Amino acid sequence: MASGEQFLSGEQLSKELNISRTAVWKRIAALRREGYPIEASTNKGYRILSNQAHYGKSGILSCLSTSFLGRELKYFNTIDSTNTMLKTLAGQGAPEGTAIVADAQEKGRGRLGRNWMSSPGLGIWMSILLKPDLHPAMLQSLTLAAAVAVCRAIEPFTAKTPGIKWPNDILIDGKKVCGILTEMSAEADRVLWVVIGIGVNVHHSPEDFPEELNGSAASLAMFGKDNQELDRCKIAAGIMNAMEELYRDFVKNGPDAMLAEWKQRSVTLGRKVSLKQGDKTLIARVLDIGSDGRLVIETEDGTVTEILSGEITLRPV
Ligand code: BTN
Repeated sequence: MASGEQFLSGEQLSKELNISRTAVWKRIAALRREGYPIEASTNKGYRILSNQAHYGKSGILSCLSTSFLGRELKYFNTIDSTNTMLKTLAGQGAPEGTAIVADAQEKGRGRLGRNWMSSPGLGIWMSILLKPDLHPAMLQSLTLAAAVAVCRAIEPFTAKTPGIKWPNDILIDGKKVCGILTEMSAEADRVLWVVIGIGVNVHHSPEDFPEELNGSAASLAMFGKDNQELDRCKIAAGIMNAMEELYRDFVKNGPDAMLAEWKQRSVTLGRKVSLKQGDKTLIARVLDIGSDGRLVIETEDGTVTEILSGEITLRPV
């Protein structure tokens, strides 16, 4: 296997080892499962990231510049779901800023009750605990801050600019590289705690995604910058560093500055979209986003409404 800057293509490996390309794939996948940091690039092939800091607690802490977020950090090689565990800890009184990072999740959860594929060695699966003094109605806009934080953190590592699809999917070239799942506990007029779960696809090759996601999901490696190693410690810490900065500003000054950046990074505003809510789907144009995180849309009959949840698909321009 190549190491350092050099890549070896799947074809070269298959010739040298006298095995099929599929067998090469399977062996690469097995090595990754054992924790080898192997980067795969569609055009160039594979290389071992030999000098990549080991993914784990000390590597992440060494890149952290926060004062509270991530300072109480728990790292697991395998967990059922970082969100599930952090919700339990939150219920037991864990301090604000507690974070859980895992190399793999056995029951990773996505929005709308879906599963979230969280294989070892491939991504960043993490959850952070916040306890904002906010009305529950403002929580949606706080979750938008997480999408902005992820964009800030991954941008230095990607050759193409990431964009945000409402509410908080991160897309590169129209494909999803990150999803965010927010769960909370609240009283009628007060948030008690919020767990923000972030899943970033980092080292995946197209073959790492199940068939149904082919074409709609991607990883940072597929848009990597030449000579820029995708170090999960740096990226995970970068998300927490950016999130703490955004969160402090949000709590002190309100959502305006964050929303301005969200809008600037949005790939949704101004676009024609299909909006799925339950079994209903409607076509609409996205006009704006409110300070509470609601999407302002105009449906085909000219009605302007605000929506808080649902799934949108961008329609061709
Ligand atoms: C989505 O459906 O887009 C949201 C995906 C959120 C996945 C992350 S991975 C870390 C955290 N733990 C989970 O079980 N889910 C979130």
